[in-house]
Amino acid sequence: MNITSALFKCSSQKLSQIPADGRPEFAFIGRSNVGKSSLINLLTDRPSLAKVSGTPGKTRLINHFLINDRWYLVDLPGYGYARVSKNLRGEFGKLITDYVTRCEKLHFLFVLVDSRLEPQRIDLDFIRMLGMEGVPFGVVFTKSDKLSSNQLASNLARYKRVLLEEWEELPPFFVTSSEKKQGRETILGFIEECLQNC
Ligand code: GTP
Ligand code: MG
Repeated sequence: MNITSALFKCSSQKLSQIPADGRPEFAFIGRSNVGKSSLINLLTDRPSLAKVSGTPGKTRLINHFLINDRWYLVDLPGYGYARVSKNLRGEFGKLITDYVTRCEKLHFLFVLVDSRLEPQRIDLDFIRMLGMEGVPFGVVFTKSDKLSSNQLASNLARYKRVLLEEWEELPPFFVTSSEKKQGRETILGFIEECLQNC
């Protein structure tokens, strides 16, 4: 997919504020520092697009970017964000859960995980919730440039093994490196295919 336009549309603090124009949405989520802003900038080929949401306050909001006037790329607040109070964590938790379970236009959710780490409880719990709620999602392995190809293959296999302890079928996996500009075509191609079916 060729990205001809990528525009920041709005930040929302509740579900009722998100765009209501019916365009399909593809969202990105993960723990803080997983590389979400970098991936969004890589995908859109706009080096500072996600910086729109870079100020601390905005990380608590849902940010919509309109792509090619056709679909929304949605930047969700990171879960398990350590620097906020428990109470606020609860609030974003609700915002995220509201969005992923109730946004009718959400076509696919990309869950970012750091390829170097063993599966983290918080991600596995989040993935379990997605499964129970029937949210279509995939797992994105970020920062793959930090691993050798053997380590990467081994970590991917480990992640899949852990998911298969609970699931009969695996979700799609994507491997990315914003540093090496890898994974862009695969993710954009996947989104394009989804768009053709909606
Ligand atoms: P928050 O907005 O703070 O939650 O973080 P984020 O998930 O948006 O992560 P961000 O894209 O800001 O990246 C966090 C750090 O990881 C930065 O120092 C990036 O340069 C680095 N980083 C992100 N992606 C990659 C990658 O693919 N490879 C490498 N080597 N570093 C990366
Ligand atoms: Mg960010």
